[in-house]
Amino acid sequence: MKSNPHQRLRDAIIENTGDKSNIFIENIPKKWEKFSDVVLFNEGTFGGEVWKPFIGNDFWNDIAEALDVKRIGIKGEIRGRRRESNVMMVLGDNDWVIRLENGIKFGYNFTKCMFSAGNINERRRMGEIVTNNEIVVDLYAGIGYYSLPILANGLAKHVYCFDWNPTAIYALKRNIGINGIDGSRCSVIEGDNRITTNEYRNIADRVILGLLPSSFGGFEAALRVLKGNGGILHIHGLGKSGSHLDWITEVEHELLDYNYKIKRKELIVIKSHSPHWNHLVLDLQLEGK
Ligand SMILES: C[S@@+](CC[C@H](N)C(=O)[O-])C[C@H]1O[C@@H](n2cnc3c(N)ncnc32)[C@H](O)[C@@H]1O
Repeated sequence: MKSNPHQRLRDAIIENTGDKSNIFIENIPKKWEKFSDVVLFNEGTFGGEVWKPFIGNDFWNDIAEALDVKRIGIKGEIRGRRRESNVMMVLGDNDWVIRLENGIKFGYNFTKCMFSAGNINERRRMGEIVTNNEIVVDLYAGIGYYSLPILANGLAKHVYCFDWNPTAIYALKRNIGINGIDGSRCSVIEGDNRITTNEYRNIADRVILGLLPSSFGGFEAALRVLKGNGGILHIHGLGKSGSHLDWITEVEHELLDYNYKIKRKELIVIKSHSPHWNHLVLDLQLEGK
């Protein structure tokens, strides 16, 4: 197989369609995401009138062969209050995929769940930060982005994973199994964490609030599960490039009503999220007053 995948894709499409016109060649995608045996193209790719006459099984098979994959998906808009992914599968019929990262298997249904490759360092950091016998609450656990590395490192006494999306819960439970994690070391709690946390007061040494664009809506639940003598919060959010301090001040202001002394520990810039906005995580130590 020739080395340049862009050239291979271009050659395969031209051969399949027999169309070499400039307008056509300009529409051949230049970007995609590849993992395992899957390629995902951006929203709208192969969508216009230009492509209509050619789309069919042979077309997708030729693309798959050119990019050395077995399954193809086209991304759609992220939808609804649950921020569900919306990928249409155009080749293949099973959307379960496993991504291996730092020795941990993250499985998920790629037509329904998102996986942010850009958060790899934060997943690794969470796997290293927990110390002996801690009780951890992951308020927005998803498929286990942060809970799995924490569970895999083996030091936490217990990890409570909250999520309200049944597809994410299904993947999380399956991931606990395929990573060989002892199920008695974690609890998976399905439902709206603003309600379900009522049953889990005063338990946590550490709370992860991994929700974008903002996790402010989870502060009350986080303070509910945090131990009375305090602990650590990992607060995710979006801060404007060049004025991260504004976001930090806003977060700390929001926490003033709760009866804790707040100490700033660290600010992590995870990645650029959109033009002028960064995905940030603020680590705060809260101490009982
Ligand atoms: C995008 S995911 C997690 C992303 C991950 N922490 C990361 O940064 O890669 C956010 C998760 O929060 C869940 N979620 C959002 N609001 C929730 C709520 N009120 N209660 C429980 N789960 C919630 C969603 O179902 C989703 O699985």
